[in-house]
Amino acid sequence: MQFELTEEHLAVQQAARDFAQTELLPGVIERDEHQKFPAEQIKKLGELGFMGMMVDPKYGGSGMDTISYVLAMEEISKVDASASVVMSVNNSLVCWGLETFGTEEQKQKYLVPLAKGEIIGAFLLSEPEAGSDATSQRTTAEDKGDHYLLNGTKNWITNGNSASVYLVMAQTDAAKGHKGINALIVEKNSPGVTVGKKEDKLGIRGSDTHSIMFQDVKVPKENRIGEDGFGFKFAMKTLTGGRIGIAAQALGIASGAYELSLKYSKERKAFGTEIMNHQAIAFKLADMATEIEAARLLCLKAAWLKDQHMDYGRASSMAKLFASETAMKTAVEAVQIHGGYGYVKEYHVERLMRDAKITQIYEGTSEVQRVVISRDVLKD
Ligand code: CAA
Repeated sequence: MQFELTEEHLAVQQAARDFAQTELLPGVIERDEHQKFPAEQIKKLGELGFMGMMVDPKYGGSGMDTISYVLAMEEISKVDASASVVMSVNNSLVCWGLETFGTEEQKQKYLVPLAKGEIIGAFLLSEPEAGSDATSQRTTAEDKGDHYLLNGTKNWITNGNSASVYLVMAQTDAAKGHKGINALIVEKNSPGVTVGKKEDKLGIRGSDTHSIMFQDVKVPKENRIGEDGFGFKFAMKTLTGGRIGIAAQALGIASGAYELSLKYSKERKAFGTEIMNHQAIAFKLADMATEIEAARLLCLKAAWLKDQHMDYGRASSMAKLFASETAMKTAVEAVQIHGGYGYVKEYHVERLMRDAKITQIYEGTSEVQRVVISRDVLKD
């Protein structure tokens, strides 16, 4: 067993850390307050190869492994979880889905610009009545011979407005249940596509979350991903990898909150000494550090299994479940350690606490992760 990172891994980690400090930290509070999408920063992340990290260089990607992706996601998320969710959706859900299941034509047309970060993608599964219960798709893709006619509404879509390319799950044959669902590549500027209002969110306020409406949108048959009826499995397989990205995001939020708390505890004095010398604070830091290390190991294990082409479904859900619970708990404690300062924006931890919550909700709630894990452990 090898617990050391390679030179390449350390270099990626350092590059992401430097980027977060120099490009993301300035302005992160203002972007959160004004719900401003980090367009410039995402463009630069693309130029650095962070928007298609695991994609083969022949399709414009960086050809890195999933461990590098986890390391980069942690560093970016320590500072700006709004930027990191844009990065995660593009990498894990859109690029991975297209590279693994797309045709050569789809890869040349869509994956190459997505992996280079020239355009952004979005993943459209959730609906007003199909969140956790993802088989209950109401959006329809009627088979019209050479094309599908798409109608319906998708909700809570990350990158809803900033994306140019949507991967849309829609029901073609209701009688077949989840086996009648297709995954379609839809260009945002297609006639009949409407971007709904931007959601005013508790956290990750810099990312743009929208509902998307489709009215008689013609989608060419060549834009279907995989065989007829593969859409639900496509979504599930893609989300299994996506959960590693969100686990790493949660890990980053937790470690960002912890690092700020450690620094503050060494500087802030109360009752005649730095607060780190009070056991009430030191024990909180000990718990934070322990739980973060456990979350990190779960994230890296899931990434390693994926890189080894081994089954990583249980591991990715465990990483997502544990890391997101750790993010929430750690960020709440970070605010507590900072006292009154923790409750104001300048000290960053209140934002991390708001951002942490979404990691327990998107790409499958904590309850969904427990469903996935329990079904798997019961097979043991
Ligand atoms: N890989 C491959 N196939 C899978 C699979 C996986 N990980 N999970 C399920 N399947 C297959 C099953 O084998 C089954 O196929 P068969 O009928 O051929 O055997 C089929 O899919 C249906 O599976 P289930 O019976 O298990 O389906 P279910 O209705 O019981 O639901 C669920 C399972 C785990 C709750 C699932 O619906 C789920 O994951 N829900 C959460 C959805 C989600 O994560 N949404 C996130 C939206 S995207 C997002 O959040 C992005 C963002 O903004 C950041």
